[in-house]
Amino acid sequence: MTQEFNKIGKVKGELALPGDKSISHRAVIFSCMAKGLSEIENLSNGEDVRSTLKCFSELGVKSKWENERLIIEGKGFKNFTAPLNNLDAGNSGTTARLLAGFLSAQPFESTLIGDTSLSQRPMKRVIEPLYLMGAKFSATPNLTLPLTIHPAEKFSPIIYEMPVASAQVKSSILLAGLHLEDETCVIESEQTRNHTEVMLGLRVEEKERKRFSYSSRKNYPSAQNYFVPSDISSAAFFIVLTLLAKNSEVILRHVSLNETRTGIIKILKETGSEIEMVNQLKSDNELYGDIIVRSSQLHSIEIPKEIIPNIIDEIPILSVASILGTGEFEIRNASELRVKESDRISALVQNYKILGLDVEEFPDGFSVSGTIQNENPVFESFHDHRIAMAFAILSMFLKNGGKISNFDCVKISNPQFLQQVNYLIQ
Ligand code: S3P
Repeated sequence: MTQEFNKIGKVKGELALPGDKSISHRAVIFSCMAKGLSEIENLSNGEDVRSTLKCFSELGVKSKWENERLIIEGKGFKNFTAPLNNLDAGNSGTTARLLAGFLSAQPFESTLIGDTSLSQRPMKRVIEPLYLMGAKFSATPNLTLPLTIHPAEKFSPIIYEMPVASAQVKSSILLAGLHLEDETCVIESEQTRNHTEVMLGLRVEEKERKRFSYSSRKNYPSAQNYFVPSDISSAAFFIVLTLLAKNSEVILRHVSLNETRTGIIKILKETGSEIEMVNQLKSDNELYGDIIVRSSQLHSIEIPKEIIPNIIDEIPILSVASILGTGEFEIRNASELRVKESDRISALVQNYKILGLDVEEFPDGFSVSGTIQNENPVFESFHDHRIAMAFAILSMFLKNGGKISNFDCVKISNPQFLQQVNYLIQ
């Protein structure tokens, strides 16, 4: 479906967005692993989290919705039933990679599959450390899905230093480690999102500018109730919409403010954005609060290498903010963007070229400058939700608007995106 967006005037109002995708995946996984009933409030309503829940239902977990809360009856330690069908992670890298770790520790065989995009994404990054723990796999020659996980003869803890900055890899290993008496340790030199550590209350040490995170059987989750704060990655689109619109103010309620995720706010503030974070509280050790955003005049800044893992999902919309707000954008050290739901460097470059801008592509990033030549473009979403939403926002500031093809992929993280936009522009 191709979606058209017209030029907008001001935006105003309040939004309470659905739960953060990363925290939702973990709340579902931990609830399924725990023995007994857990309740999750404000769970993400995106397809990705649905994929995680569907995989666990194949493993015998029952769940139901009651008063907008998901109630999960967790199976408890190694009480899962062997799946009769493949476990379909859909479009979700988090589902595939986190479940690879969990499944490696189970006493039965299982096969993870995914859609066309996920079936091309690298799984070597989790296969390698889990193999070191004793897991046995059958995969395609280039180590992508479908991935069959055979029961390990001997499963042991490891100390593993991650070659890529990835919270999915870190979490996959730590989840496997929850099934062992002795501690597994993951070492990262660049800090990635820490929801797994925070929500499970894992021991984390900082030494020589590296982080050491430990998990073992004593951290295995128990049944509990979760409140999932709103998704800061979904909020980022509305933050940029408000910043770029004239005479506008929007309040985003109870958004996750975990400091491994707020890089987007830090960068936008440095560019001159008027953003306030108020009413801060904690739930399940996760910080959240309200964000107030006002129209702002932006200026360009350089994006430091260390912040890249923190803003990795927000780079598409950050580039839109910078190009419309300052006329230029450059990002380097971001080659991980090439292995997301789409090759996001290539996707962004192709769409900015459609606008007639001067674009240069690098192996690890891209730069854009110049003036917009095409005032009624048709952008491609590349079936990637974040690309679709980024160019939807951009279209709302073009003289004659713009169109985005294959827009329905927004359902991956935020099925209500269009309704939320319409609510704010009325
Ligand atoms: C996620 C980690 C990140 C992020 C993804 C969600 C998570 O991926 O891009 O959207 O929930 O752990 P990587 O671990 O590949 O960086």
